[in-house]
Amino acid sequence: MAFELVGVVGLGTMGAGIAEVFARAGIRVTGVEADEQALARGRDHLDRSTGRALQKGKLTPAERAEILGRVTLTTSRAGLRDADLVIEAVPERMDVKVALFTELDGLCKPSTVLATNTSSLSVTALAAATARPDRVVGMHFFNPAPVMGLVEVVGTVVTAPGLVSEIADLAVRLGKTPVTVGDRAGFVVNRLLLPYLNHAVTLLDQGVAGRDDIDNAMKLGVGLPMGPFELLDLIGLDTACEIMGVLFEESRSDRHVPSPLLRSYVDAGLLGRKSGRGFHGGPADGQPEKAAARTVRVVGLPELADRLAAAGFKDSDDPDVILVAGGADPGSPKTVRVQLTGQVAQLATSVLTAQEAVLGARDLLKIAGYTPVPCRDRAGLVIDALLFAHLNDAVGMYESGYAAIGDIDAAMRLGCGYPAGPFELLESAGLATVRDGLRALYAERRSPSLAPAPLLDHLVTAGLTRFPRP
Ligand code: 3HC
Repeated sequence: MAFELVGVVGLGTMGAGIAEVFARAGIRVTGVEADEQALARGRDHLDRSTGRALQKGKLTPAERAEILGRVTLTTSRAGLRDADLVIEAVPERMDVKVALFTELDGLCKPSTVLATNTSSLSVTALAAATARPDRVVGMHFFNPAPVMGLVEVVGTVVTAPGLVSEIADLAVRLGKTPVTVGDRAGFVVNRLLLPYLNHAVTLLDQGVAGRDDIDNAMKLGVGLPMGPFELLDLIGLDTACEIMGVLFEESRSDRHVPSPLLRSYVDAGLLGRKSGRGFHGGPADGQPEKAAARTVRVVGLPELADRLAAAGFKDSDDPDVILVAGGADPGSPKTVRVQLTGQVAQLATSVLTAQEAVLGARDLLKIAGYTPVPCRDRAGLVIDALLFAHLNDAVGMYESGYAAIGDIDAAMRLGCGYPAGPFELLESAGLATVRDGLRALYAERRSPSLAPAPLLDHLVTAGLTRFPRP
């Protein structure tokens, strides 16, 4: 199909972003919103996003005018009649989407492809609500749509042969990389991403570590572009909670139970960027308490010892703080267990550790040039607990036959800006390290979803260090 005129219904952050993506690729777009106020918000999104590109010199004023000139904004759905493709990006409610698809089905020409940008609802159920189930697909973009390079193209058991590859070709024309998948809750990205974000909320709720410390640990320790709480605020806490609910409905897995703390934020109307406040954006925390550690003993961390010695700290037999390498016995109220991951220093504190020692350790690690992440001494601390469970989910997804390793890696790199895909991260961390870390997590929490995926276990047992790829 030529795809010369595309309709976008719903011009919130995602819909407006999707309209921009099509217009940038030279395709005419009719953007539809329910009322004038919502339409004005959509126009504002488009103006701001293209204005930002203009300011950065990425677009000339003439190019920007051309892009905006390709977009017709209207409150009337009649303009969608002759569209070759209509994508909906309306709120994530099945009843709302079914009503819209039923209307579009009656309105649009028979050849129009109807696509949903749903993040987790059943594309098959939407297809079945129309008289053209063979011409209904999922076309899932990522926030911010003009920037993220992935489109998940979702076919169902009733999709016409060839249509999925036509839509994948269209995604390439838009400058995106398509990953084609079957209709399963959360597809690839949300099914992997959301349980990881939810897990971060659980760690916060359990007091394992603070919001900013968890964000820093995952950005600086793993190299992810945003911390989990920053990303939840971008996605929207209500959307995140809805996706978790849908995942749980389908899987009944303990890993997919929405965190009660996440629900509380949603109930309180703190939805993230869209409402001005979510995990971030509230009143600033008070000044961190100060500690005055003057003397220190460092055990099993030669580089840290050197950096502290260079900063003038002398090794002492009766120190204010004892910093020990991971695995060494925490032992006394002055002892803090330190795990260094890149520039992040996780500071594990036990029930014995004195608050003075935690504050002292935090300041010392800052002086030594690390980003301290104080946390409770739990299996995997923050980074390994979040990352290994996330990687294990990816192995489980591959093992279930839902998606190929290359597609899972590409999806997380392009959809979420990961520096490497889950399998690449797994191989660089070491399969045995991840398997053993998962065993420790499982032994502590007894949560079935934390048990190492059988395939991971088998590869380690067989002495392999890479996943088999075709
Ligand atoms: N709209 C348009 N463009 C934007 C933008 C926005 N909201 N935010 C950033 N940009 C552009 C900037 O203009 C800049 O463009 P340029 O390279 O052409 O100059 C580029 O993006 C990089 O922006 P910045 O340098 O200002 O910021 P960062 O380097 O911090 O990158 C980010 C911002 C691209 C958002 C990066 O932090 C990232 O990749 N984050 C991960 C986002 C993610 O995971 N998204 C997926 C969420 S899941 C989802 O959407 C599915 C849904 O179903 C829930």
